[in-house]
Amino acid sequence: MNNTLYYGDNLKIMQAKIEDKSVDLIYLDPPFNSQADYNVIFRDELGEAPPAQIKAFTDFWHWPEAVEEYERLIIEAPDRIRKVISGFYEFVGPNPLMAYLVMMTSRLLEMYRVLKPTGSLYLHCDPTASHYLKIILDIIFDKRNFQREIIWRIGWVSGFKTKAKNWVRNHDTILYYTKSDEFIFNKQYIPYKEGYKRRGEDDSPKDKPGIPIEDVWGISKEEKLTSIQIMSFSKEKLGYATQKPLALLERIIKASSNPGDIVFDPFCGCGTTIEAAEKLDRNWIGIDITYHAINLITKRLNDAFGGECDYSIIGLPEDYPSAQALATQDSYEFQWWALDLVGARPAGGVDDKKKGADKGIDGIYPFIDDMDRKSKIAIVSVKGGKTGPEHIRDLKGTVEREKAAMGILITLSPPTEAMRVEAATAGSYESEVFKKRYPKIQIISVKEYFEEGLRVKLPLHTGRSIAFKRAPRVIKKPDDSQNSLDV
Ligand SMILES: C[S@@+](CC[C@H](N)C(=O)[O-])C[C@H]1O[C@@H](n2cnc3c(N)ncnc32)[C@H](O)[C@@H]1O
Repeated sequence: MNNTLYYGDNLKIMQAKIEDKSVDLIYLDPPFNSQADYNVIFRDELGEAPPAQIKAFTDFWHWPEAVEEYERLIIEAPDRIRKVISGFYEFVGPNPLMAYLVMMTSRLLEMYRVLKPTGSLYLHCDPTASHYLKIILDIIFDKRNFQREIIWRIGWVSGFKTKAKNWVRNHDTILYYTKSDEFIFNKQYIPYKEGYKRRGEDDSPKDKPGIPIEDVWGISKEEKLTSIQIMSFSKEKLGYATQKPLALLERIIKASSNPGDIVFDPFCGCGTTIEAAEKLDRNWIGIDITYHAINLITKRLNDAFGGECDYSIIGLPEDYPSAQALATQDSYEFQWWALDLVGARPAGGVDDKKKGADKGIDGIYPFIDDMDRKSKIAIVSVKGGKTGPEHIRDLKGTVEREKAAMGILITLSPPTEAMRVEAATAGSYESEVFKKRYPKIQIISVKEYFEEGLRVKLPLHTGRSIAFKRAPRVIKKPDDSQNSLDV
Protein backbone atom coordinates (compact mmCIF):
# COMPACT_ATOMS: atom_id res chain seq x y z
CA MET A 1 0.00 0.00 0.00
CA ASN A 2 0.99 3.61 -0.55
CA ASN A 3 1.73 5.77 2.46
CA THR A 4 -0.66 8.70 2.17
CA LEU A 5 -1.02 12.12 3.70
CA TYR A 6 -4.45 13.67 3.20
CA TYR A 7 -5.26 17.36 3.50
CA GLY A 8 -8.86 17.84 4.56
CA ASP A 9 -11.57 16.91 7.03
CA ASN A 10 -10.97 13.39 8.31
CA LEU A 11 -14.69 12.53 8.36
CA LYS A 12 -15.09 13.09 4.63
CA ILE A 13 -11.75 11.48 3.84
CA MET A 14 -12.44 8.36 5.89
CA GLN A 15 -15.88 8.04 4.28
CA ALA A 16 -14.54 8.46 0.74
CA LYS A 17 -11.08 6.94 0.82
CA ILE A 18 -10.53 4.39 3.56
CA GLU A 19 -11.88 0.90 3.13
CA ASP A 20 -13.63 -1.21 5.74
CA LYS A 21 -11.32 -3.29 7.98
CA SER A 22 -8.15 -2.02 6.33
CA VAL A 23 -6.16 -0.49 9.20
CA ASP A 24 -4.22 -2.22 12.00
CA LEU A 25 -3.70 0.60 14.46
CA ILE A 26 -5.29 4.01 15.01
CA TYR A 27 -3.78 6.65 17.26
CA LEU A 28 -5.75 9.87 17.53
CA ASP A 29 -4.91 13.02 19.39
CA PRO A 30 -7.89 15.20 18.52
CA PRO A 31 -8.63 18.65 19.86
CA PHE A 32 -9.67 18.15 23.50
CA ASN A 33 -12.59 20.63 23.65
CA SER A 34 -10.38 23.13 25.44
CA GLN A 35 -12.26 26.11 23.87
CA ALA A 36 -8.96 27.63 22.80
CA ASP A 37 -6.97 28.34 19.68
CA TYR A 38 -3.56 26.71 19.34
CA ASN A 39 -0.98 29.01 17.92
CA VAL A 40 2.31 28.62 16.21
CA ILE A 41 5.09 31.16 16.58
CA PHE A 42 7.31 31.91 13.62
CA ARG A 43 10.80 33.27 14.15
CA ASP A 44 13.22 33.63 11.29
CA GLU A 45 16.50 31.79 11.66
CA LEU A 46 18.70 34.71 10.65
CA GLY A 47 16.36 37.57 10.01
CA GLU A 48 15.33 40.39 12.22
CA ALA A 49 11.65 40.30 11.36
CA PRO A 50 9.54 40.32 14.53
CA PRO A 51 8.12 36.95 15.65
CA ALA A 52 4.63 36.20 14.43
CA GLN A 53 2.04 34.23 16.34
CA ILE A 54 -0.55 32.59 14.14
CA LYS A 55 -3.43 30.24 14.73
CA ALA A 56 -2.44 26.68 13.80
CA PHE A 57 -5.78 25.08 14.62
CA THR A 58 -8.86 25.83 16.61
CA ASP A 59 -10.44 23.92 19.49
CA PHE A 60 -13.62 26.00 19.71
CA TRP A 61 -16.89 24.18 19.12
CA HIS A 62 -20.27 25.72 18.36
CA TRP A 63 -23.58 23.92 18.55
CA PRO A 64 -25.19 25.53 15.43
CA GLU A 65 -22.37 24.08 13.32
CA ALA A 66 -23.01 20.59 14.72
CA VAL A 67 -26.79 20.43 14.31
CA GLU A 68 -26.72 18.88 10.84
CA GLU A 69 -24.25 16.18 11.93
CA TYR A 70 -26.32 15.50 15.05
CA GLU A 71 -29.43 15.00 12.93
CA ARG A 72 -27.55 12.70 10.58
CA LEU A 73 -26.43 10.58 13.55
CA ILE A 74 -29.95 10.45 14.92
CA ILE A 75 -31.24 9.18 11.57
CA GLU A 76 -28.39 7.02 10.30
CA ALA A 77 -26.31 5.77 13.23
CA PRO A 78 -26.87 2.33 14.76
CA ASP A 79 -29.58 2.27 17.42
CA ARG A 80 -27.20 2.11 20.40
CA ILE A 81 -25.35 5.23 19.14
CA ARG A 82 -28.60 7.07 18.56
CA LYS A 83 -29.61 6.34 22.13
CA VAL A 84 -26.34 7.49 23.68
CA ILE A 85 -26.06 10.65 21.60
CA SER A 86 -29.68 11.70 22.16
CA GLY A 87 -29.21 10.84 25.86
CA PHE A 88 -26.22 13.18 26.02
CA TYR A 89 -28.23 15.87 24.31
CA GLU A 90 -30.90 15.53 27.02
CA PHE A 91 -28.54 16.45 29.82
CA VAL A 92 -25.64 18.27 28.13
CA GLY A 93 -27.91 20.48 26.01
CA PRO A 94 -27.17 22.39 22.82
CA ASN A 95 -23.78 23.77 23.75
CA PRO A 96 -20.07 23.57 22.74
CA LEU A 97 -19.49 20.30 24.62
CA MET A 98 -22.36 18.66 22.77
CA ALA A 99 -20.99 19.97 19.45
CA TYR A 100 -17.63 18.43 20.31
CA LEU A 101 -19.20 15.07 21.24
CA VAL A 102 -21.14 14.96 17.98
CA MET A 103 -17.97 15.71 16.02
CA MET A 104 -16.11 12.93 17.83
CA THR A 105 -18.90 10.35 17.62
CA SER A 106 -19.18 10.55 13.82
CA ARG A 107 -15.45 10.16 13.46
CA LEU A 108 -15.05 7.35 15.99
CA LEU A 109 -17.75 5.40 14.17
CA GLU A 110 -15.74 5.71 10.95
CA MET A 111 -12.56 4.67 12.76
CA TYR A 112 -14.29 1.58 14.05
CA ARG A 113 -15.39 0.75 10.50
CA VAL A 114 -11.90 1.04 9.00
CA LEU A 115 -10.19 -0.94 11.77
CA LYS A 116 -9.31 -4.59 11.10
CA PRO A 117 -10.84 -7.17 13.50
CA THR A 118 -7.39 -7.56 15.10
CA GLY A 119 -6.86 -3.80 15.28
CA SER A 120 -6.43 -1.35 18.17
CA LEU A 121 -7.37 2.25 18.80
CA TYR A 122 -5.63 4.65 21.18
CA LEU A 123 -7.51 7.87 21.91
CA HIS A 124 -5.35 10.56 23.49
CA CYS A 125 -7.41 13.06 25.50
CA ASP A 126 -7.51 14.93 28.78
CA PRO A 127 -10.05 15.19 31.62
CA THR A 128 -12.12 17.85 29.83
CA ALA A 129 -14.06 15.22 27.92
CA SER A 130 -12.37 11.84 28.57
CA HIS A 131 -15.32 10.51 30.61
CA TYR A 132 -17.81 11.31 27.83
CA LEU A 133 -15.51 9.88 25.18
CA LYS A 134 -15.13 6.67 27.15
CA ILE A 135 -18.89 6.17 27.18
CA ILE A 136 -19.03 6.74 23.41
CA LEU A 137 -16.15 4.31 22.86
CA ASP A 138 -17.74 1.71 25.15
CA ILE A 139 -20.84 1.86 22.98
CA ILE A 140 -19.02 1.81 19.62
CA PHE A 141 -16.38 -0.80 20.48
CA ASP A 142 -18.34 -2.70 23.16
CA LYS A 143 -17.14 -2.18 26.70
CA ARG A 144 -15.64 -5.68 26.74
CA ASN A 145 -13.07 -4.40 24.25
CA PHE A 146 -11.92 -1.59 26.50
CA GLN A 147 -8.39 -2.65 27.39
CA ARG A 148 -6.68 0.07 29.43
CA GLU A 149 -6.81 3.67 30.53
CA ILE A 150 -3.18 4.74 30.16
CA ILE A 151 -2.03 7.66 32.24
CA TRP A 152 0.61 9.69 30.52
CA ARG A 153 2.43 12.02 32.86
CA ILE A 154 3.04 15.28 31.03
CA GLY A 155 5.53 16.95 33.35
CA TRP A 156 4.48 20.59 33.19
CA VAL A 157 7.06 23.22 33.97
CA SER A 158 7.05 24.23 37.63
CA GLY A 159 5.83 27.82 37.04
CA PHE A 160 2.59 26.44 35.70
CA LYS A 161 2.20 24.12 38.67
CA THR A 162 2.54 26.89 41.21
CA LYS A 163 -0.34 28.83 39.59
CA ALA A 164 -2.81 25.96 40.09
CA LYS A 165 -5.42 26.84 42.74
CA ASN A 166 -5.91 23.22 43.84
CA TRP A 167 -4.36 19.84 42.92
CA VAL A 168 -1.93 20.03 40.06
CA ARG A 169 -3.11 18.19 36.97
CA ASN A 170 -0.13 16.50 35.50
CA HIS A 171 -1.33 13.92 33.04
CA ASP A 172 -3.19 13.12 29.85
CA THR A 173 -5.33 10.05 29.40
CA ILE A 174 -5.00 7.53 26.59
CA LEU A 175 -8.02 5.25 26.16
CA TYR A 176 -7.01 1.96 24.59
CA TYR A 177 -9.62 -0.22 22.84
CA THR A 178 -9.40 -3.20 20.52
CA LYS A 179 -11.93 -4.27 17.95
CA SER A 180 -12.18 -7.82 19.31
CA ASP A 181 -10.53 -10.00 21.93
CA GLU A 182 -8.03 -11.24 19.36
CA PHE A 183 -5.64 -8.40 18.86
CA ILE A 184 -1.99 -7.70 18.20
CA PHE A 185 -0.04 -6.96 21.35
CA ASN A 186 3.73 -7.11 21.67
CA LYS A 187 4.48 -6.68 25.34
CA GLN A 188 6.97 -3.87 25.98
CA TYR A 189 9.72 -4.02 28.60
CA ILE A 190 12.18 -1.64 30.13
CA PRO A 191 15.50 -3.48 29.91
CA TYR A 192 17.18 -4.36 33.21
CA LYS A 193 20.18 -2.28 34.06
CA GLU A 194 23.46 -4.06 33.54
CA GLY A 195 24.32 -6.12 36.63
CA TYR A 196 20.71 -5.93 37.92
CA LYS A 197 19.81 -8.76 40.29
CA ARG A 198 16.43 -9.47 41.77
CA ARG A 199 16.29 -9.76 45.51
CA GLY A 200 16.84 -13.38 46.43
CA GLU A 201 18.18 -14.35 43.00
CA ASP A 202 21.79 -15.23 42.43
CA ASP A 203 21.97 -14.58 38.70
CA SER A 204 20.61 -11.78 36.53
CA PRO A 205 17.19 -12.84 35.25
CA LYS A 206 18.40 -13.41 31.69
CA ASP A 207 15.26 -15.31 30.73
CA LYS A 208 13.15 -12.13 31.10
CA PRO A 209 13.80 -9.14 28.82
CA GLY A 210 13.22 -6.55 31.53
CA ILE A 211 10.52 -4.91 33.60
CA PRO A 212 7.09 -4.96 31.90
CA ILE A 213 5.89 -1.45 31.16
CA GLU A 214 2.89 -0.50 33.26
CA ASP A 215 -0.02 1.69 32.25
CA VAL A 216 1.22 4.81 34.04
CA TRP A 217 3.88 6.11 31.72
CA GLY A 218 6.65 8.46 32.63
CA ILE A 219 6.11 8.26 36.40
CA SER A 220 7.54 5.13 38.01
CA LYS A 221 11.18 4.81 39.01
CA GLU A 222 11.82 2.50 36.06
CA GLU A 223 9.93 4.70 33.64
CA LYS A 224 12.19 7.60 34.44
CA LEU A 225 14.95 5.63 32.76
CA THR A 226 13.21 5.92 29.44
CA SER A 227 11.10 8.92 30.19
CA ILE A 228 8.75 9.85 27.38
CA GLN A 229 7.97 13.35 28.50
CA ILE A 230 8.69 16.11 26.07
CA MET A 231 10.13 19.38 27.24
CA SER A 232 10.36 22.69 25.46
CA PHE A 233 14.09 22.27 24.95
CA SER A 234 13.84 18.84 23.47
CA LYS A 235 15.71 18.47 20.22
CA GLU A 236 12.70 17.09 18.42
CA LYS A 237 10.34 19.96 19.15
CA LEU A 238 9.30 21.62 15.89
CA GLY A 239 7.25 24.54 17.18
CA TYR A 240 3.84 22.84 16.94
CA ALA A 241 1.89 23.56 20.13
CA THR A 242 0.41 20.09 20.70
CA GLN A 243 3.28 18.01 19.35
CA LYS A 244 3.64 14.66 21.14
CA PRO A 245 6.97 12.91 21.69
CA LEU A 246 8.18 10.39 19.19
CA ALA A 247 8.95 7.92 21.97
CA LEU A 248 5.30 7.85 23.07
CA LEU A 249 4.19 6.93 19.56
CA GLU A 250 7.00 4.43 19.12
CA ARG A 251 5.88 2.64 22.25
CA ILE A 252 2.26 2.42 21.08
CA ILE A 253 3.17 1.39 17.53
CA LYS A 254 5.59 -1.32 18.64
CA ALA A 255 3.09 -2.76 21.12
CA SER A 256 0.03 -2.79 18.87
CA SER A 257 1.34 -3.41 15.35
CA ASN A 258 4.00 -5.31 13.45
CA PRO A 259 6.31 -4.17 10.64
CA GLY A 260 4.36 -3.81 7.39
CA ASP A 261 1.05 -3.12 9.21
CA ILE A 262 -0.99 0.04 8.56
CA VAL A 263 -0.94 2.77 11.19
CA PHE A 264 -3.51 5.56 10.85
CA ASP A 265 -3.59 8.98 12.52
CA PRO A 266 -6.72 10.95 11.54
CA PHE A 267 -5.64 14.12 13.45
CA CYS A 268 -1.97 13.94 12.62
CA GLY A 269 -0.82 17.51 13.47
CA CYS A 270 2.88 17.86 12.84
CA GLY A 271 3.18 14.15 12.07
CA THR A 272 4.64 12.45 15.14
CA THR A 273 2.73 9.21 14.48
CA ILE A 274 3.84 9.27 10.88
CA GLU A 275 7.49 9.73 11.65
CA ALA A 276 7.36 6.93 14.24
CA ALA A 277 5.52 4.59 11.83
CA GLU A 278 7.98 5.31 9.04
CA LYS A 279 10.91 4.74 11.35
CA LEU A 280 9.49 1.42 12.55
CA ASP A 281 8.80 0.18 9.02
CA ARG A 282 5.01 0.36 9.22
CA ASN A 283 2.81 1.69 6.45
CA TRP A 284 0.85 4.78 7.36
CA ILE A 285 -2.05 7.12 6.61
CA GLY A 286 -2.27 10.62 8.08
CA ILE A 287 -4.98 13.27 7.81
CA ASP A 288 -4.97 16.89 8.87
CA ILE A 289 -7.34 19.69 8.10
CA THR A 290 -4.75 22.48 8.07
CA TYR A 291 -2.28 23.33 5.36
CA HIS A 292 0.22 24.29 8.02
CA ALA A 293 0.26 20.73 9.43
CA ILE A 294 0.62 19.11 6.00
CA ASN A 295 3.43 21.47 5.07
CA LEU A 296 5.19 20.83 8.37
CA ILE A 297 4.93 17.05 7.95
CA THR A 298 6.43 17.10 4.45
CA LYS A 299 9.37 19.09 5.74
CA ARG A 300 9.68 16.86 8.80
CA LEU A 301 9.76 13.66 6.74
CA ASN A 302 12.27 15.13 4.38
CA ASP A 303 14.55 16.21 7.22
CA ALA A 304 14.19 12.94 9.10
CA PHE A 305 14.50 10.46 6.23
CA GLY A 306 15.98 12.43 3.32
CA GLY A 307 14.64 11.06 0.06
CA GLU A 308 13.98 7.65 1.60
CA CYS A 309 10.37 8.21 2.57
CA ASP A 310 7.91 7.33 -0.15
CA TYR A 311 4.38 8.75 0.11
CA SER A 312 1.65 10.66 -1.72
CA ILE A 313 -0.14 13.80 -0.64
CA ILE A 314 -3.80 14.04 -1.57
CA GLY A 315 -6.05 17.06 -1.31
CA LEU A 316 -3.73 20.03 -1.91
CA PRO A 317 -4.68 22.32 -4.80
CA GLU A 318 -2.91 21.08 -7.90
CA ASP A 319 -4.49 23.36 -10.47
CA TYR A 320 -6.39 26.63 -10.78
CA PRO A 321 -9.92 25.22 -10.20
CA SER A 322 -8.89 23.39 -7.01
CA ALA A 323 -7.16 26.53 -5.72
CA GLN A 324 -10.35 28.48 -6.47
CA ALA A 325 -12.33 25.89 -4.53
CA LEU A 326 -10.01 26.25 -1.52
CA ALA A 327 -10.30 30.06 -1.63
CA THR A 328 -14.10 29.80 -1.61
CA GLN A 329 -14.20 27.20 1.12
CA ASP A 330 -11.66 28.68 3.55
CA SER A 331 -9.90 31.98 2.90
CA TYR A 332 -7.57 31.52 5.90
CA GLU A 333 -6.34 28.15 4.62
CA PHE A 334 -6.05 29.54 1.08
CA GLN A 335 -3.79 32.26 2.42
CA TRP A 336 -1.43 29.78 4.16
CA TRP A 337 -1.23 27.71 1.00
CA ALA A 338 -0.75 30.69 -1.35
CA LEU A 339 2.06 32.16 0.78
CA ASP A 340 3.97 28.95 0.35
CA LEU A 341 3.90 29.38 -3.44
CA VAL A 342 6.41 32.21 -3.02
CA GLY A 343 8.23 30.76 -0.01
CA ALA A 344 6.79 33.35 2.41
CA ARG A 345 5.63 32.71 5.94
CA PRO A 346 2.41 34.07 7.46
CA ALA A 347 2.85 37.50 9.03
CA GLY A 348 0.37 37.35 11.88
CA GLY A 349 1.07 39.60 14.82
CA VAL A 350 2.80 38.94 18.08
CA ASP A 351 -0.47 38.92 19.98
CA ASP A 352 -3.06 38.01 17.47
CA LYS A 353 -3.22 36.83 13.90
CA LYS A 354 -5.33 39.78 12.80
CA LYS A 355 -2.68 42.37 13.54
CA GLY A 356 -0.66 41.65 10.43
CA ALA A 357 -3.74 41.34 8.27
CA ASP A 358 -5.11 44.65 9.50
CA LYS A 359 -1.94 46.31 8.33
CA GLY A 360 -2.33 44.77 4.85
CA ILE A 361 0.46 42.26 5.43
CA ASP A 362 -0.38 38.60 5.00
CA GLY A 363 3.11 37.21 4.63
CA ILE A 364 6.78 38.00 5.01
CA TYR A 365 9.62 36.89 2.79
CA PRO A 366 12.93 37.68 4.54
CA PHE A 367 16.22 37.83 2.69
CA ILE A 368 19.78 38.99 3.24
CA ASP A 369 20.97 41.43 0.66
CA ASP A 370 23.59 43.78 2.00
CA MET A 371 27.19 43.54 3.10
CA ASP A 372 26.22 43.83 6.82
CA ARG A 373 24.02 40.67 6.55
CA LYS A 374 21.06 42.62 7.89
CA SER A 375 17.76 41.10 6.90
CA LYS A 376 15.36 42.78 4.48
CA ILE A 377 11.82 41.80 3.72
CA ALA A 378 9.37 41.51 0.89
CA ILE A 379 5.78 42.02 2.05
CA VAL A 380 3.22 39.60 0.66
CA SER A 381 -0.47 40.28 0.27
CA VAL A 382 -2.91 37.52 -0.73
CA LYS A 383 -6.27 38.22 -2.40
CA GLY A 384 -8.63 35.30 -3.00
CA GLY A 385 -11.42 37.46 -4.45
CA LYS A 386 -11.74 40.22 -7.06
CA THR A 387 -8.74 42.49 -7.47
CA GLY A 388 -8.00 45.86 -9.07
CA PRO A 389 -5.35 48.66 -9.19
CA GLU A 390 -6.42 49.81 -5.71
CA HIS A 391 -4.85 46.65 -4.26
CA ILE A 392 -1.54 47.52 -5.92
CA ARG A 393 -1.75 51.06 -4.54
CA ASP A 394 -2.44 49.66 -1.06
CA LEU A 395 0.54 47.32 -1.32
CA LYS A 396 2.81 50.14 -2.49
CA GLY A 397 1.69 52.17 0.54
CA THR A 398 2.34 49.27 2.91
CA VAL A 399 5.80 48.61 1.45
CA GLU A 400 6.68 52.25 1.92
CA ARG A 401 5.26 52.50 5.44
CA GLU A 402 7.04 49.34 6.60
CA LYS A 403 10.27 50.29 4.82
CA ALA A 404 10.21 46.93 3.05
CA ALA A 405 12.35 46.25 0.02
CA MET A 406 9.61 44.78 -2.16
CA GLY A 407 5.96 43.83 -2.30
CA ILE A 408 4.21 40.82 -3.81
CA LEU A 409 0.53 40.50 -4.53
CA ILE A 410 -0.81 36.96 -4.93
CA THR A 411 -4.15 36.82 -6.74
CA LEU A 412 -6.30 33.97 -7.99
CA SER A 413 -6.95 35.28 -11.52
CA PRO A 414 -4.43 37.11 -13.73
CA PRO A 415 -4.12 40.84 -13.03
CA THR A 416 -5.76 43.42 -15.29
CA GLU A 417 -3.66 45.68 -17.52
CA ALA A 418 -4.37 48.60 -15.15
CA MET A 419 -2.91 46.57 -12.27
CA ARG A 420 0.25 45.78 -14.24
CA VAL A 421 0.69 49.45 -15.14
CA GLU A 422 0.19 50.50 -11.52
CA ALA A 423 2.78 47.92 -10.38
CA ALA A 424 5.31 49.11 -12.97
CA THR A 425 5.18 52.68 -11.60
CA ALA A 426 6.82 51.41 -8.38
CA GLY A 427 10.11 50.95 -10.22
CA SER A 428 12.67 48.39 -9.18
CA TYR A 429 14.68 47.17 -6.22
CA GLU A 430 18.39 46.88 -6.84
CA SER A 431 20.23 44.09 -5.10
CA GLU A 432 23.56 45.08 -3.59
CA VAL A 433 24.79 41.51 -3.31
CA PHE A 434 23.32 39.90 -6.40
CA LYS A 435 23.92 42.97 -8.60
CA LYS A 436 20.49 42.54 -10.07
CA ARG A 437 17.27 44.51 -10.45
CA TYR A 438 13.94 43.12 -9.33
CA PRO A 439 10.53 44.72 -9.96
CA LYS A 440 9.69 46.39 -6.64
CA ILE A 441 6.04 45.33 -6.83
CA GLN A 442 5.27 41.98 -8.40
CA ILE A 443 1.95 40.27 -9.04
CA ILE A 444 1.58 36.54 -9.34
CA SER A 445 -1.73 34.88 -10.07
CA VAL A 446 -2.43 31.28 -9.11
CA LYS A 447 -3.77 30.70 -12.66
CA GLU A 448 -0.50 31.80 -14.28
CA TYR A 449 1.48 29.92 -11.63
CA PHE A 450 -0.16 26.61 -12.61
CA GLU A 451 -0.89 27.15 -16.28
CA GLU A 452 2.13 29.15 -17.45
CA GLY A 453 4.76 28.23 -14.85
CA LEU A 454 5.05 31.89 -13.77
CA ARG A 455 7.20 32.55 -10.68
CA VAL A 456 8.13 35.69 -8.72
CA LYS A 457 11.72 36.94 -8.83
CA LEU A 458 13.23 37.37 -5.39
CA PRO A 459 16.69 37.30 -3.79
CA LEU A 460 17.52 34.11 -1.89
CA HIS A 461 15.50 33.46 1.28
CA THR A 462 17.38 33.76 4.59
CA GLY A 463 16.49 30.22 5.61
CA ARG A 464 13.72 28.54 7.46
CA SER A 465 11.35 30.01 9.92
CA ILE A 466 11.70 28.45 13.34
CA ALA A 467 8.13 27.12 13.13
CA PHE A 468 9.57 24.80 10.48
CA LYS A 469 12.59 23.82 12.53
CA ARG A 470 14.49 20.92 11.06
CA ALA A 471 13.54 17.52 12.46
CA PRO A 472 16.56 15.45 13.55
CA ARG A 473 17.71 12.91 10.99
CA VAL A 474 16.34 9.41 11.73
CA ILE A 475 17.91 6.10 10.80
CA LYS A 476 15.19 3.53 10.14
CA LYS A 477 15.55 0.58 12.50
CA PRO A 478 12.32 -1.40 12.92
CA ASP A 479 13.55 -3.20 16.02
CA ASP A 480 15.40 -0.30 17.56
CA SER A 481 14.80 0.21 21.24
CA GLN A 482 12.61 3.06 22.46
CA ASN A 483 13.87 6.53 21.62
CA SER A 484 15.30 8.24 24.64
CA LEU A 485 14.74 11.95 24.94
CA ASP A 486 16.54 14.86 26.48
CA VAL A 487 14.53 15.66 29.55
C1 LIG B 1 -3.77 17.97 19.02
S1 LIG B 1 -3.31 18.16 17.36
C2 LIG B 1 -2.42 16.68 16.97
C3 LIG B 1 -0.96 16.74 17.35
C4 LIG B 1 -0.18 15.52 16.92
N1 LIG B 1 -0.47 14.37 17.74
C5 LIG B 1 1.32 15.80 16.93
O1 LIG B 1 2.08 15.15 17.66
O2 LIG B 1 1.71 16.74 16.23
C6 LIG B 1 -4.85 17.96 16.58
C7 LIG B 1 -4.79 18.14 15.08
O3 LIG B 1 -6.06 17.76 14.53
C8 LIG B 1 -6.30 18.57 13.40
N2 LIG B 1 -7.75 18.50 13.13
C9 LIG B 1 -8.76 19.08 13.82
N3 LIG B 1 -9.95 18.76 13.27
C10 LIG B 1 -9.68 17.94 12.23
C11 LIG B 1 -10.50 17.28 11.26
N4 LIG B 1 -11.82 17.40 11.28
N5 LIG B 1 -9.89 16.54 10.31
C12 LIG B 1 -8.54 16.41 10.28
N6 LIG B 1 -7.72 17.02 11.16
C13 LIG B 1 -8.28 17.78 12.13
C14 LIG B 1 -5.78 19.94 13.78
O4 LIG B 1 -5.48 20.71 12.64
C15 LIG B 1 -4.53 19.56 14.60
O5 LIG B 1 -3.39 19.59 13.79
